[in-house]
Amino acid sequence: MASRLTAIVMAAGKGTRMQSERPKAIISLLGQPLSSYVLRALEQAGVEPIIVVVGHGAEEVKQALGEQYRYALQAEQLGTGHAVMQAIPHLPPDAQYVLIAAGDSPLVTPEVFQSLYESAVQTDAACALATALLDDPTGYGRILRNERGDVIGIVEEKDAAPEQKAIREVCTSFYCFRADVLRDALPRLSNQNAQGEYYLTDVIGILAGQGALVVTWQSPDPTLLLGVNNRWELAQVGHTLRMRILKQHCLEGVTVVDPATTYIEPTVQIGRDTVIEPNTHLRGNTVVGANCTLGPDLYLQDCIVGDNCHLFRSHILQARIERDVSVGPFAHIRPGTVLHNGVRVGDFVEIKNVEVGEGAKVLHLTYLGDATIGKGTNIGAGTITCNYDGERKHRTVIGDGVFVGSHATLIAPLTIGDGAYIAAGSPITDDVPPESLAIARSYQTVKAGWVRKRRESKHSAGGTEQ
Ligand code: UD1
Ligand code: CA
Repeated sequence: MASRLTAIVMAAGKGTRMQSERPKAIISLLGQPLSSYVLRALEQAGVEPIIVVVGHGAEEVKQALGEQYRYALQAEQLGTGHAVMQAIPHLPPDAQYVLIAAGDSPLVTPEVFQSLYESAVQTDAACALATALLDDPTGYGRILRNERGDVIGIVEEKDAAPEQKAIREVCTSFYCFRADVLRDALPRLSNQNAQGEYYLTDVIGILAGQGALVVTWQSPDPTLLLGVNNRWELAQVGHTLRMRILKQHCLEGVTVVDPATTYIEPTVQIGRDTVIEPNTHLRGNTVVGANCTLGPDLYLQDCIVGDNCHLFRSHILQARIERDVSVGPFAHIRPGTVLHNGVRVGDFVEIKNVEVGEGAKVLHLTYLGDATIGKGTNIGAGTITCNYDGERKHRTVIGDGVFVGSHATLIAPLTIGDGAYIAAGSPITDDVPPESLAIARSYQTVKAGWVRKRRESKHSAGGTEQ
């Protein structure tokens, strides 16, 4: 868009109706701060610079939203008009048009901003105002028009007369103003209203009163402009956003078997022909390759997954998984883990900070922590790396082609050479050289006929059976 188009995003409010200890702008919506969505849409529309008005919890909000924006401080939250006044000194001197958006309306798209800007420019209006026709307009400012249909002002819900409350056309808090017009009108706002605030919405009445042209742009899809004032609206807007993300993945070649139980954050990337089974959660900076099957019942956070993997009924955090890997059911893969090509991880296995070599198998009831496992190594059922001595963590290094028998206890620090064998049930305390067998268990004694002899001795003593 035009180089002299800039934007102001209002994100200073406390969000009282959220009933939260945290500022509304950074309440999480699908893993992202609520206000980041509006900012992203503006960026995608090519608007620059973006001025964000912060106030309540300003430092925390700035940190969550990032350094790429200009910030204006509204120390006291005296209303949306007052918020915009604080941003005016940060506008580039040559700004021609200013988009204004509320930071609490995350469903907005770049096209909404483009349309608003175009309608302002094409009509040479002082302001293009985005409105929506809602079945239930409760809580929104209502658009007032004269008998010719021209916009003459906006009345807030709390100031509205009963007949005004019946108006279904609402202000959505998205505007495109001519910069000079906005600069002139803001100082004329008053706070003589039900909330004692400087309302940005009153600028519209001021402009109309001067005979300036105010045009409206009505969104074909009113849901794009919905705001979040309480947690129920957060849930509903979150649902719409989630469905939008799932649809986008489907259109790009991902099968989503059950959208109702699939949770994919906007930061996630997925390759073609991957199938997402029900109750799957893909979060954070997760990148999944092509032709995978994920789920049912899978949680992935900040994971990199290669092609052709089958991950199901498991919890996986900050792990890198290469190609042709299978994990599940009931595995817990924790940060710092790398599963190389063709690894198989099975049920009731916990792995933390371990590099598992190509083709290795860890199939049952195992804990591996702070270890390196070589290629093609087999970790038997019930194997435990004892990585913690109560004070420090120690590493276990296991070579290629090692066979670790069931129920081995590997007491770190420990190195097991390539091709070694560890006998089942062995607590291993010392390094094992390559190609060697380590066996560490007491020998078994078999007492032949012991049971029969005991029975006979009880009979001859005339003892009573108990
Ligand atoms: C506002 C509009 C209303 C519109 C609705 C659409 C006003 C007076 N009312 O009402 O007409 O229908 O949005 O969603 O503009 N903020 C500040 N500083 C302040 C007050 C608010 O930065 O002093 C920010 C908030 O953080 C929020 C945005 O402005 O992101 C809107 O404020 P909010 O209190 O949610 O206004 P609404 O009651 O929704
Ligand atoms: Ca709002």
